[in-house]
Amino acid sequence: MSENTEFGSKLGLIAATVGSAIGLGNIWRFPAEVQSNGGAAFLLVYIICLFVLGIPVMLAEFSIGRGGRGDAISSFTNIVPGTRWRAVGALAILATYLIMAFYMVVTGWTLEYLWFSITGELYQGATVSNASDIFGARMNDYLHTDAAPIIASCLVIFINIGVLLGGVQKGIEKLSNLLMPILFIILVGLCCVSLSLPGASEGIKFFLKPDFSVINGEVLVSGLGQAFFSLSLGMGILITYSAYYPAHTRLTQTSVIVSLVSLFVSVLMGFIIFPAVTSFGLGGESLAGETLVFATLPEVFLRMPATRIISALFFLLLFVAALTSTVSTGEVAVAYLRDHFKMKRTRAVIISLLPLTLCSAVCALSLGSMPQLQIMGKSIFSFLDNITTQFMLPIAALGGSLFIGWRAPRSILMGQLTNGGTMKSGFAHIALWLIRIVAPAGIITVLLWPVIKDLF
Ligand code: PFF
Repeated sequence: MSENTEFGSKLGLIAATVGSAIGLGNIWRFPAEVQSNGGAAFLLVYIICLFVLGIPVMLAEFSIGRGGRGDAISSFTNIVPGTRWRAVGALAILATYLIMAFYMVVTGWTLEYLWFSITGELYQGATVSNASDIFGARMNDYLHTDAAPIIASCLVIFINIGVLLGGVQKGIEKLSNLLMPILFIILVGLCCVSLSLPGASEGIKFFLKPDFSVINGEVLVSGLGQAFFSLSLGMGILITYSAYYPAHTRLTQTSVIVSLVSLFVSVLMGFIIFPAVTSFGLGGESLAGETLVFATLPEVFLRMPATRIISALFFLLLFVAALTSTVSTGEVAVAYLRDHFKMKRTRAVIISLLPLTLCSAVCALSLGSMPQLQIMGKSIFSFLDNITTQFMLPIAALGGSLFIGWRAPRSILMGQLTNGGTMKSGFAHIALWLIRIVAPAGIITVLLWPVIKDLF
């Protein structure tokens, strides 16, 4: 986005915001989190966090962006000159950078699986009866081939650099808006196939019938983290985006639409993955966590006609969805470097994205042939995922809500929520209360849950 640009149409801005929000978070990360956090109970926590905390935080970030009309840091200082709260913006940018390091690795897997689908290598020798073992083993083998995952993630980073240098991100965004409906159609098709599998009902039960006894601090913080990750909250992305929103955009309506679309895609993925998991059985431990989707989806494709074509199309669309998220995020960093350090575009692009190749390579290796690359007993990949989603995003989101709710002049938030007083203020008063009290209290409670629960 260039300076002084405003989004042309309402649909355009919603599409751009949804495009940046929908990504691997919904399609890859959500099922993995449901799987490792006990199923339906996690879904419930996630939905509550999405609506009770996610929407108010999104409104807070929109208000900071459109109220401050700057990047993720200067929006704070444009509202309150010289404020230390700009550290919140810096934390958000740092979190996003660390997220990009492992996100690029997973985007690389999509690229590789697209290639494997085109060449047919992925489905070689796979039959309905041995599929579970074959696809699990294939993902495992792939992760443990030293060079391949590293090359794939570097390739993804170079594609991002190319798009940002070529200034063609507008083109990519348009392409993505065009392709996303096709992704939805494929997801619905996959859902129908999955639901008709023998034993599908067990998977649906796991996904929809909550066992409340599994809810603990870990599940709460994971649900909160997933809600924020999938809505791109606490990342500075929405602050930067909304700085370009026209004054008449209805922020509440936009936040509700973005959240609903995001929830819809995530839930659709649940309906695809869990019936398949219970129907085919998990092919060993390796299928849990990060690799769940990559090992399970091919089993569903195998049951469909034109397996390779649908599989290739799906991974292509997933790649484009991931690319729109990373390119728009890359642009946030580039815009910041250009504004603050008066850097040329090329330099800003190289400086912000090239170091990621090293970070992503380390993440990829930590999951594959160098499991000794650990921090606090976790692979560097999982460590970065956990520390960003479970701490940095919630803290940055909390900071944003406190800043706009309490530190900034109240007129800014009310002005943004009512579009300068041109809209009824009834809901704005509720939103104000949600942003000032409910969201901060909710986030603090979840983060401090292990301590709080011992008090009772
Ligand atoms: N909401 C995005 C997703 O769910 O994929 C999160 C995201 C991650 C956006 C990384 C951008 C990004 F670079």
